[in-house]
Formats: sequence, structure tokens, C-alpha cells
Amino acid sequence: MPAFRVELGPHAHDVHVGPGLMAQLGELARSAGLIPGRAAIVTDSNVAPLYAAAVDGALKAAGFVPVVVEVPAGEASKSLEALARLYDRLTEAELDRASPIFALGGGVIGDLAGFAAATYLRGLPLVQIPTTLVAQVDSALGGKTAVNHRAAKNLIGAFYQPRLIVADTAALATLPAREFREGLGEVIKYGAIIDAPFIAWLESAMPAILAREPAPLEALVERSLRHKAHVVANDEREGGLRKILNFGHTLGHALEASAGYGSYLHGEAVAIGMVAAARLSARYAGLSADEASRLEALIEAAKLPTRMPPRWQSENFLRALRLDKKRARDAVEFVRLDRLGHALTRKLGFDEIVILDQAR
Ligand SMILES: NC(=O)c1ccc[n+]([C@@H]2O[C@H](COP(=O)([O-])OP(=O)(O)OC[C@H]3O[C@@H](n4cnc5c(N)ncnc54)[C@H](O)[C@@H]3O)[C@@H](O)[C@H]2O)c1
Ligand SMILES: [Zn+2]
Repeated sequence: MPAFRVELGPHAHDVHVGPGLMAQLGELARSAGLIPGRAAIVTDSNVAPLYAAAVDGALKAAGFVPVVVEVPAGEASKSLEALARLYDRLTEAELDRASPIFALGGGVIGDLAGFAAATYLRGLPLVQIPTTLVAQVDSALGGKTAVNHRAAKNLIGAFYQPRLIVADTAALATLPAREFREGLGEVIKYGAIIDAPFIAWLESAMPAILAREPAPLEALVERSLRHKAHVVANDEREGGLRKILNFGHTLGHALEASAGYGSYLHGEAVAIGMVAAARLSARYAGLSADEASRLEALIEAAKLPTRMPPRWQSENFLRALRLDKKRARDAVEFVRLDRLGHALTRKLGFDEIVILDQAR
């Protein structure tokens, strides 16, 4: 039984969430309509030794004949060079247009293998098998695939929906602590923008979540993905509603860029961005100061940062905000909360950004 279906008309697909699902991958792939035969498992150098054999075995048991293609772990593999090497391997494996690509790993693998699947032979069936919390609650669903260009992140990409998503929550057990907590930033985001009861649940479940107990992990991944699926199903190509997923991201991106990529993980910068956006919401959008503090306390309970560093290069930060790719003249798109669990988007004038910068 799938956890749920992402309703995208001709691109509709199932999502399965639960511990131990990698062992059933072969059957799941067959019931999603994928045809046994040649296939590729694309993974990275950290994930391969942990999970490639299990996925390979499960696929072989169902009649697939996969090759395992391993790329070095890390963001550097989301490059045109790594993509070119990946195409080479797919050619050597003699894949045809029915051969599925299984993206086994975090968001880097999902984006890279997803873009390869979108483009190789004008499109191969794609299966997402996310193994990080970020990938399980966010990047595996939604169809955004990309590689980076030296000029900017995710500059070269495509919207390309997977045929199936299998989130094996048992894989989260081996994730380093910092990467695990990072994913919680995006989880809290869904509560803040869509689901106030989820915030209350996260508040009480946080100790069990941080201890990575299986039941709360499964519940958290499924609920997060359902929210993303709902938003994406109503706005596949980011025309309107999908923008609310950028809550905390305008400031988060600026912080990532101005602090130098690598100082903050994305989810950490977004955590700080959400706290700032909540304070801004309390000032301009009807969120109460108590609700803003409650969100901050939850982010703190997830052991994520909530404040920008004290000796902050204000000018770099403002420059980065202005360079935000969603900017329009002197305004940036800013997602605010009018209450916990409900988001609004609005263009924020440059003056307001300066006020925010001074208030932080
Ligand atoms: N397509 C989208 O909608 C979307 C959304 C959010 C982020 N992203 C992209 O996702 C990327 C970040 O994803 P990420 O945070 O998953 O990073 P990642 O893929 O680099 O994974 C983080 C680290 O964890 C390791 N790892 C993965 N699974 C593991 C496991 N189960 N056990 C132990 N180690 C494991 C990886 O090897 C890597 O070292 C960025 O490139 C970002 O642009 C895309
Ligand atoms: Zn994000």
C-alpha cells in the first residue's frame, strides 16, 4: 500500500514511506509499471557502501539488471563535469528508453540523477530513493532537477517528475547528526506555513525525533511529503502557491551566500531565516509575538541555529538579498505568516529589508 499518491495528472505517482522499504524496491518498481531489464542505480561514495547492495539485490530479485554508478559524495558532484561522466556510464551500460534510473542518496544525487534521467535519451523513467532527511521531506518530491554552474546553484535543470518515490526511513539511522538536524528545518517549515497542529506535535515529539525513533520518523516524513505533494499538485511549476515553500529562504539564501557557501548548511540558514521571517511577520503580518517566540523555541529544540552571527557583515548580507534571484527591482519576494500554520507571500520593499536588517 502506498503512503499516498501525488496527483499530477499524467505525471501522478505513488510515494511509499516506512522503515525497511528498500528490500521491497523491486516489487514496488514493478507495480509502478517499470519494466524489468537494464537499469542504473546512481549513488554517492558515502551511500554506496551502506545501501547499494540492498537496492541492487532487491532489484535483481524482481528481474532488473542494474549497474551501480557511484559519484563522489558532496555538492561538487552536481556539476556539468560529473553529469558528463554519468552520461558516459549510462552509455556503457547500454540503457534504452525503458531503462529506469534509481537515484539512491541525498538531494545531490536526486538532483543530478534526476537531471540525467530527464535528458538522457530525452527522458528515462526515474525512481527517487532519498536517504537524507532533506531528500525524504523535500527534494525527492516536486520534480525539480538540476546541476550547478559556476555562476550559480541549480542554474541548469528541468522539471521532471519521478515515476515512484520510496523513502526508507531506516536509512536515516546512519545520517550524520548535523545533516539530520538540517532536515528538521524544512520539516518545521511545513508546520509554520500549512499545519499548526504539526507544530504542536513536533514540540512534544522532538526528543523522540532527535533520538531517531522509527515511529515518529515515519510520521514526520510522511506528513511533510504530503504537505509538499499538496502544494506541488496545485502548482507544479512554481507559479504561485509553491512560493510559500520559500518561507525562511529569502533570508536563508542571502545568509548562505554572504557567509560563504559551506559555513552554514542550507537547513541551518533557513532556520535562521525562519526566525527572522517570523519576527518580521509579527511586525507586519499579524503573527503574534508569542507565536514568533514559539516557532523560535521549536527551532532551538531541534538544535538548529536561530540567530545570525553577531559580527555580521551587514553590507554583504544586504547585497546578497538584493541579488536574490526572485528579486524584482528594489523588492524581494518574501513569505510571511499571518498566524502559525498560514503563510502569505508579498513583495517586500528595500526599506523594509533595511529595517529587518537593523532589527535582527
Ligand atoms: N530538487 C529540490 O527540490 C531540492 C530541494 C532541496 C534541496 N535540493 C538540493 O539538495 C542538495 C542537498 O541535499 P542533501 O542535504 O541531501 O545533501 P547530500 O546529498 O550531499 O547528502 C548529505 C551527506 O549525507 C550523505 N548521506 C546521504 N544519505 C546518507 C545516509 N543514509 N547515511 C549516511 N550518510 C548519508 C551524503 O553522502 C552526503 O555526504 C542540494 O544540492 C540542494 O540544492 C533540491
Ligand atoms: Zn530549502
